Amino acid sequence: MAGPEDHRLPGRGQLRAARADLRLPPDRLELLATLLRRGHAATIPPAPAASVRRCRSLRVYPLEETSRYLMRELDRNPLPRSCAIVGAGRLGTALAAAFRATGLDVEGPLGRGTPPHADAVLLCVPDGEIAAAAAAVPPGPLVGHCSGATGLDVLAPHEAFGLHPLMTVPAEGAPPFAGAGCAVAGSTPRAEAFARDLAQRLGMRATTVADEDRAAYHAAASIASNFLVTLEGAAERLAATAGVERGLLAPLVRAAVENWARLGAQHALTGPIARGDETTVARQRAAVAERTPDLLPLFDALADATRALVLVA
Ligand SMILES: NC(=O)c1ccc[n+]([C@@H]2O[C@H](COP(=O)([O-])OP(=O)(O)OC[C@H]3O[C@@H](n4cnc5c(N)ncnc54)[C@H](OP(=O)(O)O)[C@@H]3O)[C@@H](O)[C@H]2O)c1
Repeated sequence: MAGPEDHRLPGRGQLRAARADLRLPPDRLELLATLLRRGHAATIPPAPAASVRRCRSLRVYPLEETSRYLMRELDRNPLPRSCAIVGAGRLGTALAAAFRATGLDVEGPLGRGTPPHADAVLLCVPDGEIAAAAAAVPPGPLVGHCSGATGLDVLAPHEAFGLHPLMTVPAEGAPPFAGAGCAVAGSTPRAEAFARDLAQRLGMRATTVADEDRAAYHAAASIASNFLVTLEGAAERLAATAGVERGLLAPLVRAAVENWARLGAQHALTGPIARGDETTVARQRAAVAERTPDLLPLFDALADATRALVLVA
């Protein structure tokens, strides 16, 4: 079934031609491309021209006419020019600094009970606090959250957006947002365009994730990032029993991750299980049982998962 990004939509060449025709600035071109690609054109009431009224969907309208109409909509209801960050934790502090560095008018990060005054409010609070924090925002601004697993319904009745950087942000150190993925969402074309604009400011690669896919998307992110840290913590403990420090394991971890990113899991795998050296694996297992017995279930589960990966390869 043809989706909103199907082949009937204009290519970048056509969009560039429309931009030249309409004398649009580059940021408007991006916005126009976003709206058309995401199929939001169909959600905007048709323009009144006779040729347009005969069509069922704006997607098949002449591009120039559609472009003019969308741009008029954006002129009436422009993107926010300022953004308040609510939540002075890990992500809120990092995003406030990063957005400010791009020239965006940023308020915050604000703590509890401080009312925001900006055109948009981005909630950087724990997932369970989003609904309460959204309810505390007076009607008017766009309201967004940064949760990977949460849909936009918790932000109702605000015009809502989602911005989930696919990046791990600890309390210390500026996170490398540039190049990271970022799940964006919007309850209106304008809200989604604003989320994309924020992602783009930091050089993140925006993508959309359907509400029904968000829990799986976020679980994948947790396995890739949080569980990896748990795993490295276990390796660090066992290595310490042999007098080997974390710094010596770190290059190995980086190389393994780079190989996985470049080659995929099956081709990146090395080690005794990939080689079929089960006698070595049995000796490893005995050492784990003796030195860190609480890690044995984790070791066994991962050894089984690794054997399954070898069988698939
Ligand atoms: N950190 C990451 O790596 C990361 C990455 C991507 C997305 N996210 C998302 O970003 C959001 C925040 O995560 P985080 O890691 O930054 O959490 P965090 O470090 O625990 O910070 C949360 C902050 O929100 C504040 N807060 C809680 N309830 C509030 C309310 N009702 N009004 C105002 N402030 C409130 C907390 O203040 P108190 O200390 O007073 O409770 C705390 O400063 C979550 O939705 C998370 O899924 C995080």
